Amino acid sequence: MAFTIAIDGPAAAGKGTVSRAVAAHFGFAHLDTGLLYRAVGARMLAGIEPVEAARTLRAEDLEDDALRTPEVAQAASKVAAIGAVRAALVDFQRAFARRAGGAVLDGRDIGTVICPEAEAKLFVTASAEVRAERRHRELTDKGVQTDFATVLADVRERDARDMSRADAPLRAAEDAVEIDTSHMDIDTAVATAIAAVETAVKEKTE
Ligand code: CDP
Ligand code: CDP
Repeated sequence: MAFTIAIDGPAAAGKGTVSRAVAAHFGFAHLDTGLLYRAVGARMLAGIEPVEAARTLRAEDLEDDALRTPEVAQAASKVAAIGAVRAALVDFQRAFARRAGGAVLDGRDIGTVICPEAEAKLFVTASAEVRAERRHRELTDKGVQTDFATVLADVRERDARDMSRADAPLRAAEDAVEIDTSHMDIDTAVATAIAAVETAVKEKTE
């Protein structure tokens, strides 16, 4: 049976962490759609025209650790504002979403544009300060030299660009359950997400 869980939200809200745990709990496959835009952004930084980069993206392009840098994140949010880049990535995401056995996709427009029919929709968010603190800790742990103010400015700039673009802007779907993780640890955020999905499953099967 195909069952799609759509998880959207702003940068560093905990979407990936929650999505991986929810997918493991239900035995579903997981796709981090941010990686698609990061891979296109990285290819643009390497000199490839972004629409061409999106059309010729291969699975191997998603497996590069270099995709996790703030520079690539900024490039990703720039190419993500190009309608033809987004259009080139739609079919792959929709096919993944409808695979037998269930799927969790996390991103910015999963519940609104990619899978408006998703059986469960979550919008995972947190204050910009908390998100920047988490991302800053993550980068510091990896040995990347950066300060909190730079990370906060990066997060804010990306959110503003993602929310203001004409095509598939970042916003919660009307029927999404919002989870604000500002004051939640990871276990609480995951348990809240699983409970919300279980409610959606019950509603579907009633
Ligand atoms: O995928 P997204 O960018 O939304 O966020 P993430 O990579 O899942 O989470 C960003 C960082 O916040 C990671 O280091 C998580 O471990 C951490 N996190 C947290 O401290 N508390 C939460 N409730 C959720 C995530
Ligand atoms: O991990 P983090 O939340 O910082 O970023 P990400 O999820 O890897 O996404 C990187 C960028 O890709 C975002 O800032 C968006 O501009 C773009 N993106 C998007 O437009 N649509 C998606 N479904 C996923 C990501």
